[in-house]
Amino acid sequence: MIETILITIKIATYGKCKAYNLAVILSFDIIQVNMQKFKNLSKETRIKLIILAVLIILIGPGLYNKLKVVNYTLESDKIISPVRIALVTDLHSCKYGENECELIDAIDAQNPDLILLGGDIFDDKMSDDNTIAFLEGIYNRYPIYYVTGNHEFWGGVDQYYSQMDILDRYGIHRLQGDLVHLDINGNDITLVGVDDYDGYLVDSDLILENQFVDAYLSLDADSYNIILSHRPEYFDTYEAQDYDLALCGHAHGGQWRIPGILNGLYAPNQGLFPQYAGGMYEEDGTTMIVSRGLARESTLIPRLYNRPELVIIDLT
Ligand SMILES: [Fe+2]
Repeated sequence: MIETILITIKIATYGKCKAYNLAVILSFDIIQVNMQKFKNLSKETRIKLIILAVLIILIGPGLYNKLKVVNYTLESDKIISPVRIALVTDLHSCKYGENECELIDAIDAQNPDLILLGGDIFDDKMSDDNTIAFLEGIYNRYPIYYVTGNHEFWGGVDQYYSQMDILDRYGIHRLQGDLVHLDINGNDITLVGVDDYDGYLVDSDLILENQFVDAYLSLDADSYNIILSHRPEYFDTYEAQDYDLALCGHAHGGQWRIPGILNGLYAPNQGLFPQYAGGMYEEDGTTMIVSRGLARESTLIPRLYNRPELVIIDLT
């Protein structure tokens, strides 16, 4: 009986990942070889071992964390010819191959018109080296705009200005409540970028609420208005200010997901079962896309069924 269950589970859990398949096959073979010993264990121990095996089977594939590309397509009367945007958030200076080639190649393969860096591109504890390699690989080939995340402020004043110097060195446009008019493929696009809420930690002038108001007063309703802002929990503000599109990160996809059941367990500043963990949200003409971000080794708790993502948005 138990042999039949084990073989059934082994077949059912066979997937695309060769290493995982090998681990499953080996563990079940070990169990089968030791079946007599298993049968001699107490019922309580057998149940515990079976629960442990089932947990390993369920959690194992969820730890797969290779970069993936997530595409969204949005239609608008304000867009007369297609525009492709790459949204990169929450890199936290994590490593994506030699000189960040995995991330850079993924962006190049999508050939975007514009790259938006949505905060926490740097980290407050990780070395800046991987972020520098990433910027080195993209800086002279795309228009690139950046806003801060909370982690660019958490390292203190000196680290913050050092990281901003790096961005300036690569000619990255930093937006701090600024509004820029972009002509992309004949489209009139307005891009607003605001600092993370924690900006006041390094500069008393970096007040998010003030930046929201200043940018809003300069918006043109005929333009396709995009706001780049690290935090998704301010969706009500983006919607109230009639932005066509808000692009955010910060939530890391809620770190743990159960596909089809739970879209994120916990996100900073949203708590348990976050409303805006990752994905696309719409309200009264405003669309918000929340990237699940790219943080991997920077976080103590691993991502579960929550692969790091490069977000590509096609405006049509
Ligand atoms: Fe963040």
